[in-house]
Amino acid sequence: MLLNAAAHLLPTDVSMEIMSIEGIPLYNADLDLPAAKQRPASVEHFRKMLTDADGIVIASPEYNYSIPGGLKNAIDWASRGEDSPLLRKPVAVIGATTGLWGTARMQVAFHNVFLFLDMKPVYKPEVLVAQAEKKFDAKGNLTDEMAKKLLRQKLEALKELIQLQTQAGDVLDTKVI
Ligand SMILES: Cc1cc2nc3c(=O)[nH]c(=O)nc-3n(C[C@H](O)[C@H](O)[C@H](O)COP(=O)(O)O)c2cc1C
Repeated sequence: MLLNAAAHLLPTDVSMEIMSIEGIPLYNADLDLPAAKQRPASVEHFRKMLTDADGIVIASPEYNYSIPGGLKNAIDWASRGEDSPLLRKPVAVIGATTGLWGTARMQVAFHNVFLFLDMKPVYKPEVLVAQAEKKFDAKGNLTDEMAKKLLRQKLEALKELIQLQTQAGDVLDTKVI
C-alpha cells in the first residue's frame, strides 16, 4: 500500500514499476553463477528489473527489529557478481508497521548492506509510517498528510540523486522500481 502511494506521488518525468519478491528461492551458491549456468528464473527476472531501473525504492515492514528475512534473501541474490544491479545504485528505503517506531530499526539495518554494496542511499527525509493501520483507509490509500508529504520529498531526493549520478541531466525516461 505504501508503494502504491509512492506511485501516486512521483516527481515529474519519473515512472515506477512495482515488483514483489514473492517466489524467490532461498539463496544457494550452487544455483548462482559461476557454479550454475544460469540462476533460477525468478532471480534472473528480479535482477533484470533492478538492472533496468535507475533507482530503487524498497518498501518493507520491520521484523524483529530488522530486515524481514525474505527481503534480505532477495537482496542477497541481487548482490552477487560484478554485474550486480545493486552496485552503486541510488536507493530509498521506506517502511510501514503497525508498531510505534515506523520501521526505524529495519531502515538502520540496511546501512551495512548499502555500505558493502557501495549503494547510494537517500536517508532524508525518513519515511517511517508507524501505526500504519490508522494511516491508510479501507481501500488501502495512504491518508496521512505528513506521511504523504515526506514520501513525496523522499522521491524527489531520489530523483535528484539519480540525476547527479547519471550527470546526464536528462531524466525523461527515469524509471524506479
Ligand atoms: C515475524 C514478525 C516480526 C515483527 N517484528 C516487528 C518489529 O520488530 N517491529 C515492528 O514495528 N513491527 C514488527 N512486526 C509487525 C509488522 O511490522 C506488521 O505486522 C506489518 O504490518 C507486517 O507486514 P507484512 O504483513 O507485510 O509482513 C512484526 C511482524 C512479524 C510477522
